[in-house]
Amino acid sequence: MNRLDGKVALISGAARGIGGETARLMVEAGAKVAIGDVLDERGRETARGLDDAAIYLHLDVTREEDWHAAIAATVGRFAKLDILVNNAGLFLGKDIEAASLEEWQRLCAVNLTGVFLGTKLALPALREAAQNSPHGSAIVNLASTAGLVGSTQDPLYSMTKGGVTLFTKSAALEFARKNYRIRVNSMHPGTIDTDMGDQVLATRARNLGTNDVEIARRQVIERLPIGRMGTPTDIAKGIVFLASDDAAFMTGAGLVIDGGITAQ
Ligand code: NAI
Repeated sequence: MNRLDGKVALISGAARGIGGETARLMVEAGAKVAIGDVLDERGRETARGLDDAAIYLHLDVTREEDWHAAIAATVGRFAKLDILVNNAGLFLGKDIEAASLEEWQRLCAVNLTGVFLGTKLALPALREAAQNSPHGSAIVNLASTAGLVGSTQDPLYSMTKGGVTLFTKSAALEFARKNYRIRVNSMHPGTIDTDMGDQVLATRARNLGTNDVEIARRQVIERLPIGRMGTPTDIAKGIVFLASDDAAFMTGAGLVIDGGITAQ
């Protein structure tokens, strides 16, 4: 189950957090992985931990030329590209009244433009790999539960992730109509213990009128049916599944891994 033997993946924002853990699990599942990020030091360290199965590439997802170079380097090193994970993302943590136009534009650039550029520019390599694969190629986009229901902490983040949710479905339909054999699905994590998760808790604490992140953490956990926050591994396992041939009949779908928060 969930094997990726012989597959090659490019994961944006994979120096740490969910992307970093996804790189690790993909290698464990038999894939070769290119880790793209703007955190060069951390990214190299993550790749080093995976030996010959991974390379690190500087990739700012908002820059077209970075995508061209990262895709060429991935194919140059591993001969093809079967899987793209659009994982890089930013959280803002501000109310509508507090957010500036510049902050909104930065959020859009990473969370939306980054996903568009990755999808568009990886397409030729993904199509080529799909021709030699029984179930084709795969794209997994990191949306969020905040892309399914409103966010109490970050309305602008929620707007971008809602965009990722529907872009995923539309891209899946377009590629199916064109018979490209590329499945496109989205992942919807709840609050996960990463640097971004810390940012979410800090925002919640501020909105509660305290700087005590532990109070915010307890509040989040009390509302979670499963009774704990998610880990990067919880999410990475789902991403590996969506990228694998076990998800061969899934496209245009969203996988919710949120400890039950959106069930209520
Ligand atoms: P993180 O902050 O730990 O990692 C995000 C990575 O993206 C970092 O390595 C960062 O350097 C990279 N990144 C930021 N801007 C970039 C750019 N312009 N180009 C390339 N890389 C860039 O966050 P985490 O938690 O691992 O999040 C991964 C994805 O999961 C994001 O899309 C996030 O929105 C989504 N997500 C996270 C949740 C959480 O609670 N942690 C919940 C729901 C969704």
